[in-house]
Amino acid sequence: MAENVSERIEELYRPSAEVMAQAHVADWEGMAARAGKDFVGFWEEKARELIDWHSPWTKVLDDSNKPFYKWFTGARTNIVYNAIDRHLKGAYRNKLALIWEGESGETRTFSYHALNREVSKFASVLKSLGVKKGDRVTIYMGRVPELPIAMLAVAKIGAVHSVVYGGFSTEALHGRIDDSQSRVLITCDGAFLAGKIIELKRIVDEALKRSAAVEHVVVVKRTCQEVMMEQGRDMWYHDLMGLPIADPKCPTEIVDAEDPLYMLYTSGTTGKPKAIVHSHGGYQVGVATTLKYVFDLKDEDRWWCAADPGWVTGHSYIVYGPLLLGATGFMYEGAPTYPYPDRWWQLIEKYGINVFYTAPTAIRGLMRWGEAWPNRRDLSSLRLLGSVGEPINPEAWRWYHRVIGKERCPIMDTWWQTETGAFQITPLPSMPLKPGSGGRPFFGQEADIYGEDGTPVKDGEEGFLVLKRPWPAMMRTIYNDPDRYVQQYWSKYPGVYLTGDSAKRDKDGYYWIIGRVDDVIKVSGYRLGTAEVESALVSHPSVAEAAVIGLAHEVKGTAIHAYVLLRQGFEGSPALAEELKKHVGAEMGPIAKPEDVSFVASLPKTRSGKIMRRVLKARAQGLSEGDISTLEE
Ligand code: WTA
Repeated sequence: MAENVSERIEELYRPSAEVMAQAHVADWEGMAARAGKDFVGFWEEKARELIDWHSPWTKVLDDSNKPFYKWFTGARTNIVYNAIDRHLKGAYRNKLALIWEGESGETRTFSYHALNREVSKFASVLKSLGVKKGDRVTIYMGRVPELPIAMLAVAKIGAVHSVVYGGFSTEALHGRIDDSQSRVLITCDGAFLAGKIIELKRIVDEALKRSAAVEHVVVVKRTCQEVMMEQGRDMWYHDLMGLPIADPKCPTEIVDAEDPLYMLYTSGTTGKPKAIVHSHGGYQVGVATTLKYVFDLKDEDRWWCAADPGWVTGHSYIVYGPLLLGATGFMYEGAPTYPYPDRWWQLIEKYGINVFYTAPTAIRGLMRWGEAWPNRRDLSSLRLLGSVGEPINPEAWRWYHRVIGKERCPIMDTWWQTETGAFQITPLPSMPLKPGSGGRPFFGQEADIYGEDGTPVKDGEEGFLVLKRPWPAMMRTIYNDPDRYVQQYWSKYPGVYLTGDSAKRDKDGYYWIIGRVDDVIKVSGYRLGTAEVESALVSHPSVAEAAVIGLAHEVKGTAIHAYVLLRQGFEGSPALAEELKKHVGAEMGPIAKPEDVSFVASLPKTRSGKIMRRVLKARAQGLSEGDISTLEE
C-alpha cells in the first residue's frame, strides 16, 4: 500500500491558518525538541497537567529491571477516578459523556453524572458476585453503552477487564476465557449488525461447554430473542441492576499506578493469541496526552471514534481517552452502510461531530458507493479526521480529505498497536501532511528503521520499525508469560522495542509504514494471527494440515488465503471449500473467514517441519521464491 513512496514525498498539505489558530500545539517542532531532550520530564509534566493522583510517585520512570519498565512508581490512582469521579465535582457533571445511537435509530445519552450512576451500580453488582481486586472479568458484547459501562465498573473496583471482540466466535472466545481464568463473564443476548442478529449468548453457551472456570454470566438484554438461561449461572443485567445490591454508592478502589487495568488478547508471531497487560497509571497519562494533542480535542467538541470497543482503539479512544479529557464521545451500534451507505455521514450531520476517526478499510469500502452519498449530508461540523489500523493508500487519503473533509480537515494517520496503548507515530494538526505517511514519532518517542543486523538503514530504505524509548502507556507484560514479552519484543535488538512492522523513513523524517513482517495479518484493520486461523481449519475433520497467508485486497487491505492438505478419504471441492470457510467463521469469527481455500498435495516446509508461508506467498504473487535452501525435499 505504501507504493510510490518517493514520488509522493513532495505532495504536502499544509495546515490552514484556521487549524493553526486552534491547535493545542502550534509549534510542534519546539515541543518535539523539548520532549526529545528530556522525555521523562515531558511525561512527568503531562502526568501533573492532565491527571489527578491520590498520592505522588517516587519515581517517574523506573528502568531498573528492563524491559519491565515501570512508570510513576509509588503513585496511587485509578483511571476511573480520572475518567469519571473527578468530573462530578466540576463543570462537567451535567455534560454529556456518551451519546449512543442504535442501528435502528434509537438514542441513549449519559451525562457524566448518569454514567457514574450506572458504572457505580454495576460495580457494586460485580462486588456482590465476588469480583475482587486483580480478578479477571471477560466482556463479550455488542456495541451498546453497557460495554463501556462494564469496562469502567470492572476497573473501578480494581479488577482487570478482558474484552473479547463481539465479532469473534466460539473457539476464539473459549481460548480467551480459559487463558484469563475469568470467573465472571458479561455478555448480551445478541447484537444487531447490518440488520441481522449475532447470537452472542448462544456463542457463549457453546464456548462455556468447552471450559469450566466461569461461574457467573451477566446478560444484557438487547435483541430480545429467546436465549437459554442456565439456572445458577446466568443472570440478566437489568434484574441485577434493579436489586438493592446495585448500590449507586460504590467507592472507587484506589490502586497502585502499576496495578493492571486490563488485558487484551492479540495475535503475535506464533502460537495462540496472548494477553497484553496495561496498567492504570502510565496508560491514563499516555492516552490523555495523545488524544488531546493529536486530535486537538476541545471542551465543546463531539468526538467519534468509529472503532469497536473490543479492540485497543476502542479501549483507548472510545472509552478511556475521551472520558479522561472530559469530552463528549459518540458511539454507534451498527454497520456503516445500514440501511444506506450514508449512515455514517448522516450521523455526523445529525450529531454535529467535530472529530472523526476510522480505518482505511472503511474509507475504501464507502468510497465505492460514490460521492453522492456523503454529498447529500452536511459535514461542515467536521474539523479533523483520523485513520488507524493499517496503511492508508494515497487514493483513499485524498478521497477522505476532499469528499469528507472538504479539504479543510487535516487527517491524523495514527500508527500504534495494542502493545503501545497509545499513538506512537502520528502527525499533529499543525504538521504538514503527506498522504500515506503516518508522520513522526510522538513527543518523547524516538523511532528508527533497522536492517536485519541491527544497524539503521538509509532514508528511503525499508527495514524493521523499532521504538527506542519507553513510554508511559506501554504494555507491562504478557499475561502469564513474561518470557515471551522479553523474547518477542525486546530480543531481536536488545534495548529497543521491535514493532513487528516494516517501514521507511523519508528525508524529512516522515515514516511510511509498509506492513507486518511476522505472522500477523491485518484484515480490514483487524489483527489476526495465521496460527489461530490455521488451527481453526485443522479442527475440521477433513483437514490434515493448513497454512494461511495474507494477500493484498482492494477493500480489506489484506485478505486471508488458505492452503489445505486434506486427510485421506476426503476430496477437495468448491462445496468443501465453502464448508471450511464457514467452519472458520464459526470457530474464530466472520472476519477470519478465508477469501479462498486451495486444496494442495503438499505444503512447503523447512527440513525441521516449519511451514514456509513466505514461499506460499511468493508463489501466489508470481514472485521468485527467494532463498529456498532450507526447503524440505
Ligand atoms: C498496523 C491497532 C499503518 C500495524 C491500533 C501495527 C498501522 C498493527 C497503523 C497493530 C497506521 C496500525 N498505518 N499501519 N496508521 N495503525 N497499523 O494491535 O501493522 O490491532 O503493527 O492496533 O496495525 O494492530 P493493533
